[in-house]
Formats: sequence, C-alpha cells, structure tokens
Amino acid sequence: MNAYEAIYYRKSVRGYSMEALAPEMLERLRNCARHLKRLDPSIGYQVDILDLTRNKIRLVGPFRVRAPYYLMISVDKSREGAMLEAGYLAEQLVLYLAGKNIGTCYQGGLRCLNITPAQGLKQVMLIAFGRADHKIYRNQEQARRKKLSALCSFREGIGEEMRTLLKAARLAPSAFNTQPWRFVVYAGRIHILARDSFWNRVHPGGTEFDMGVMLCHMVLAAEELWMDITLKKDGQLAENRWKKCRYIISLINNQNNLNN
Ligand SMILES: Cc1cc2nc3c(=O)[nH]c(=O)nc-3n(C[C@H](O)[C@H](O)[C@H](O)COP(=O)(O)O)c2cc1C
Repeated sequence: MNAYEAIYYRKSVRGYSMEALAPEMLERLRNCARHLKRLDPSIGYQVDILDLTRNKIRLVGPFRVRAPYYLMISVDKSREGAMLEAGYLAEQLVLYLAGKNIGTCYQGGLRCLNITPAQGLKQVMLIAFGRADHKIYRNQEQARRKKLSALCSFREGIGEEMRTLLKAARLAPSAFNTQPWRFVVYAGRIHILARDSFWNRVHPGGTEFDMGVMLCHMVLAAEELWMDITLKKDGQLAENRWKKCRYIISLINNQNNLNN
C-alpha cells in the first residue's frame, strides 16, 4: 500500500506488541524522514526515532499509549508556519508507516525529557509506532468524520479531481478528532480555513499542526491524480473576516485555470 492509499485505511493504533522492528526497516524510515516533501523548505526540522526496546527514554504526559518506538518531530518554532510544517512532515511519516503495516498514534500531550533536538529546534510532537496487537486498517466508511457538506461551502460546481482532494482532506486525523478544517470551494481553487477549538487554547499551534496534517492528504491526492496544484497564501483573504474561522492558505488547480 502506498502513502496515498493509506489515507483511506489508516486508523490510530493504541495497542502495540513490544517486538523490535528489523534494523533495515528503521533505516528506511530514517531515509524517508530525510527526504520529506516541504511546504516551506527554509524551516529547520529534525526527526528522531526513540527506541524504547533498547534505550531508557523518559516520556511524560497524559494519555500515553505503550509502544516500542516513538517518532519525535522537532521544528524551529520561532518561524511563522512552523507548526503547519510540522504537521505536514509528521503525516508523511505516519502514512509511510501505515503503508508498511506499522501502526501509529499521535501523542499530542507527550514530551521526551532526556533527548533534545539540535539548537534552535523544539520538539512539537511524539508519535507512537510499532507492530500492532490488532488490525491497523479500517474502511473509510468506519472513520468518524464530519460530512463534506459540513466542512465545505461550495461556491461553484466542482469536478471529480477537486472532490477527491476534499475527500482525502476530510479523512485526516486531528487532535481529539476536532477536524478544524473548513473549505470555501470554487471550480479551480479551494480556500482553506481553520476553526480553532479548545485544543488550540491548551496547546498553542495545535490547530496549525492539524492543518498541516490535512494539507499532506490534499497534496498526496493531487500527486496521485497528476494534478498541477499550487499552495499559496493570499494576503487579501488573510485580511478578510471569516465567520469563526481563520484563513490559512489557498489551493490553486493550475490546470483548471489554464482551461478557463
Ligand atoms: C495532533 C494530534 C494529536 C493527537 N493526540 C492524541 C493523544 O494524545 N492520544 C491519543 O490517544 N490520540 C491522539 N490523537 C489521535 C486522534 O484522537 C485521532 O487521530 C482521531 O480521533 C481520529 O481517529 P483515527 O486517527 O483513528 O482516524 C492525536 C491526533 C493528532 C492529529
């Protein structure tokens, strides 16, 4: 299963066997982490694999699942867009692992006390991973998600390709399943908005992280369909007042604009 297909089948896994993964598997994961797609390549990041089968790793925080490994995602939080970037990077790794039959679960409240990232970077997310006790896949119909009609304001009719992007976006995981994304949809572009929840108040940047996770789904879907898209921030739209929402970015379908 590739990362795009995994969008439709992945679910959070909270029960793990503590068996070690093959060293080659971990090496491939490290390699994947070095070659992730970027939204803003100038934002520094680091991915560490915390191996609890071999090392003493001190983790603190609520709702912790017991797992043999964790991914630790760190970014330069002083930069604008750092949390969006972090979510975008993290979800690529999560889907890569799901495609290899390895379970994952984001651990939003967890911190590692005895491993620190390089200077200037801050750990922003830990993700449990490993072989699961039970099934790691489900059908998309079983995913608890808001309907597209509740997430989107359709301003024009759209084609199948744009609809596929929205369907992939809808399935993204989010903290407490809050699904903060909202979409203003035109035939050739989608304006992407975020609706903050309590989660962003207790965890500043939490909504941006979720939005980055969701953008990863949209971009993977666009790549799968060989669509030519651009993600672009529109200064004017950022100034607009949106009902209960904040503007994040716009997705432009360049092909559609050429045809019109
Ligand atoms: C940023 C983020 C933080 C999360 N934190 C936790 C957590 O601390 N504990 C947990 O059990 N699940 C956590 N989750 C998993 C969500 O609860 C889960 O993705 C959501 O309920 C949807 O379920 P699904 O992933 O099975 O589709 C987190 C997910 C995200 C994206």
